[in-house]
Amino acid sequence: MTGASRGIGQATVGKIRDSCEQLILVGHTKAPAAPVSWTGSGAETYQVDLRDPGERLRFREKLAAREGLPITGFVHCAGSGMPAAVEDVDARVLRDLFELHVVAFVELAQDLLPAMRHNGFGRIVAVGSLAPLRPRSFMVPYAATKAALRTAVQCLAAEVIGDSVLVNCVSPGGVDTDLGRAGREHLAELFERQGRPAPPSRQGDLPRGRAVGAADVARAIAFLLDPENEVLAGQDLVVAGTHVMR
Ligand SMILES: NC(=O)c1ccc[n+]([C@@H]2O[C@H](COP(=O)([O-])OP(=O)(O)OC[C@H]3O[C@@H](n4cnc5c(N)ncnc54)[C@H](OP(=O)(O)O)[C@@H]3O)[C@@H](O)[C@H]2O)c1
Repeated sequence: MTGASRGIGQATVGKIRDSCEQLILVGHTKAPAAPVSWTGSGAETYQVDLRDPGERLRFREKLAAREGLPITGFVHCAGSGMPAAVEDVDARVLRDLFELHVVAFVELAQDLLPAMRHNGFGRIVAVGSLAPLRPRSFMVPYAATKAALRTAVQCLAAEVIGDSVLVNCVSPGGVDTDLGRAGREHLAELFERQGRPAPPSRQGDLPRGRAVGAADVARAIAFLLDPENEVLAGQDLVVAGTHVMR
């Protein structure tokens, strides 16, 4: 699980941990804490900047050298990116987000797929976003790279379904996490700075009084990881009420 240190990733670890014998948890600014009072046999934790090809390579070498149970599930939850007006989009930031959202996902899938295919079992979930499904101003880097991730998931799903490896996407919108709150505040500032009306609230697309929480997204990820899911593949499970229909 990448992005395991906070927010949606941390909630997902809490949700799935009791059905996991071993966990490999990846964070960026610090290695995630191993879950407390967990009955599994071991959690490995890593601190990796997944934007950086060199750091990724060293992490992948460690994964290849590890002696443990075969890895049967992979969740790519690491993500980042703030809204920006197009004139302020830095090409380096765009490339970094592509590395983090897409290249890291594809490379880690490349490493994990041979054993999954050999064993005839694997579950892969990438955390996408509502952003490419409901394109809006100031979202070029984030939405474009999440769109590429979603397409990578769909292509990969078609490629490996015959080996009983199921690959899916979960696309949340407006989740109450550090990243979600900071992104929404910054987006509102950008609209205000340009004197444009802020995008409509999503409240009407959710049950009354309800916001999307990290636990809601974790539940969707766990559902797709479950070995009892034997046919859902290439799907994008949107966790944002009815917002995508509007
Ligand atoms: N919140 C929303 O509204 C929302 C909506 C749609 C999609 N998403 C997606 O959901 C996923 C989780 O986001 P969140 O809302 O839970 O945000 P969060 O609380 O900020 O968590 C982001 C996670 O990604 C990790 N990460 C960030 N940059 C990284 C890097 N360069 N290398 C490795 N790991 C990195 C972070 O590690 P550190 O803790 O060490 O920094 C953290 O574990 C992301 O893919 C995000 O794009 C979120």
